Amino acid sequence: MSSAEKFFRFDGQKTSVILYSGEATIPTLLYWGEKLPAAFEAQELLLLGERPLTFAALEREAPLSLFPQESEGFLGSPALAAHREGKHAIQKLQLCDVQSWEDGCTFQLEDQNAALRMNLQLRWSAHDDFLTSWSELENLGPETLSLDHLACPTLPLLPGENEVLALGGRWAGEFRWERSALTPNLALSIEQRSGRSGPEHFPGCVIGTAGFDETHGSVLGLHLAWSGNYKIRIERLRDGRGYVQAAGGFMPGEIQVEAGARFVTPRLMATRAMGLEALSQRFHSFLRREILPTWTRQPRPLLVNSWEAVYFDHERSRLEALVEAAAAIGAERFVLDDGWFLGRRDDRRGLGDWQVDPGVYPEGLRPLIDLVHENRMSFGLWVEPEMISRDSQLFRAHPEWVLQVPAYPWLEARHQLVLNLSVEAAYAAIKEQLDALLRSYPIDFLKWDMNRILVMAGDQEGRARAWQQTEAVYRLMDELRSAHPQLEIETCASGGGRVDFEILRRCGRAWTSDNNDPLERLRIQAGFSLFFPPEIMGAHVGSERAHISGRRSDPHLRAIVALQGQLGFELDLSRSAEAERAALVPYVALYKEHRHWIASSRVFRLPQLRPGLAGLGYVAAAQDRSLWWISSSASAPVSQEEPIKLRGLAPEQRYRLRVENQNKAELRRFMQKAPRLLEDDASIIASGAALMHGGASLPVLPPESCLLLSCHRLDA
Ligand code: DGJ
Repeated sequence: MSSAEKFFRFDGQKTSVILYSGEATIPTLLYWGEKLPAAFEAQELLLLGERPLTFAALEREAPLSLFPQESEGFLGSPALAAHREGKHAIQKLQLCDVQSWEDGCTFQLEDQNAALRMNLQLRWSAHDDFLTSWSELENLGPETLSLDHLACPTLPLLPGENEVLALGGRWAGEFRWERSALTPNLALSIEQRSGRSGPEHFPGCVIGTAGFDETHGSVLGLHLAWSGNYKIRIERLRDGRGYVQAAGGFMPGEIQVEAGARFVTPRLMATRAMGLEALSQRFHSFLRREILPTWTRQPRPLLVNSWEAVYFDHERSRLEALVEAAAAIGAERFVLDDGWFLGRRDDRRGLGDWQVDPGVYPEGLRPLIDLVHENRMSFGLWVEPEMISRDSQLFRAHPEWVLQVPAYPWLEARHQLVLNLSVEAAYAAIKEQLDALLRSYPIDFLKWDMNRILVMAGDQEGRARAWQQTEAVYRLMDELRSAHPQLEIETCASGGGRVDFEILRRCGRAWTSDNNDPLERLRIQAGFSLFFPPEIMGAHVGSERAHISGRRSDPHLRAIVALQGQLGFELDLSRSAEAERAALVPYVALYKEHRHWIASSRVFRLPQLRPGLAGLGYVAAAQDRSLWWISSSASAPVSQEEPIKLRGLAPEQRYRLRVENQNKAELRRFMQKAPRLLEDDASIIASGAALMHGGASLPVLPPESCLLLSCHRLDA
């Protein structure tokens, strides 16, 4: 090996990464897979991996480097597309400097002709086998550079990794797992142009060997931490090599890098594992350790949200009754949703006027907040700061602040438009209003909503402003949080339309979906668990008849399903039947008993259950406690289910298994003789090995039911 050639190696718990740079060439990710022995000759990988040069090809095969270039003959997506009024559209960057340390490296590339410098940044988290990478571009020339595309470091796929699992969805039907095959004739692309990170397409995916599942198959999981437009391209080239490339999505002319200025891409986060179970656990662990605000480590308060309880009917006595009913059931936070601010009597008006409506709250929010506090709850408030209604004081004063090109008819969604936060005065006006609210009232929590996508997102001159809008949202959250350090924020975009690792630096709770139907929620929540851990997942008990689907369900099913996340209630408890409230109370106690360990637990989706039967489990880091949800959405094709095998327990330890459902008597009705576990106060003691390798029989589960099992170590 010549002195100009170099290997860079990082080891994790289960995998090793080797980067290779040839004769001062841009590095490639030579290896990412099973952990390698300490004494390993990386050179041998090169020898073994030498590829033939086919006829009718360039004299040198284009490298599939971290930064593939058109000028090297790369036929996939080049990492960079930029120009200066048509000039310097072709670039050839070369490696000019490397800095590497125990858990990271920076590769500096330069092209003096095109006057560009690039830093490719890689950071390795050995704890989670997690690679974070991003690109930084510097314009060294005297003229502005128009940036059309700048990718994060490009990652190669392994041979055989030709199946892609992406998260797609729609309003009230988020986080759907969708699989596609990768073939050499069609590249796959996941893109979002709506100015947010969902729900249509989540900025991330899993790419693995055919048929990969929870415990089998080599999988690469990746996520672009960005809440606005993006594109992810996955391609198997005709020469057999595969890659995945993630980048922010730019509208035409949107990114202009001035002379001497820099542009930094969002961060790409990736891990490699065997099976989805390990992959999800690493994403959760990395998110918890590196990204989430510290307040998420405290027990997450059980909340009552006013939305589906009262909608826009903020009649004083009604809200007071709701507050009192919330306290009576054991809630610790009361969140006043939409409908409290100036003129907001319905969803046609008011956005932009973040002052308490004196017509509805003549003495301001004080009396309500005092009542909330007297009932020993904290107070949260709904806002939607990025929006403006035509019928608002803000719009009447500043129609030019709308993020909409004036020359064309405007497109409203839910009677609202987007406010152009890259106009400094508009930004300042909103910030000042929110700041005044936070200064005037003891508000612990904001539910930050975003209900209109960015369409025609241009300023008065027709310049695209979608990228700047996302940056302004981050800035607004950051500035409010630094002025009010105790403030907790929840991310919401018509439900789970904006949940990603960059918004989650600022928001430690996500409103998962407007769909509170427990059966729909089971699928949505399992989908959510691919990248996100349970303690940040807002999950509410809705009304008996779900508002979105119209389906009826009993309180046990609703509560048990909501216990998978951060429990809340979103129904008018003050008007619920006494029997319904009584049925819910024990689940409140369960939530409070278990939330402290769930916040650091490992998540298991039980593999190989029949269609219509799903199993989800949370196992405490100390392996002493666990909860398992076995849900049946459709009846079984056979009269008896197969035994379920738990996962993640300590094989030699002994555990007590019990059913936590409060409706055991009801469940017993579906069998001539129910198994022992369904008897009142029954439990079974068994070793971790018996529970994981032998398995436990299930009772007959009627469709639309869910069994909640606890399995605790005997000394726990
Ligand atoms: C959409 C959210 O997803 C709902 O939870 C609720 O906050 C409404 N907006 C209020 O307008």
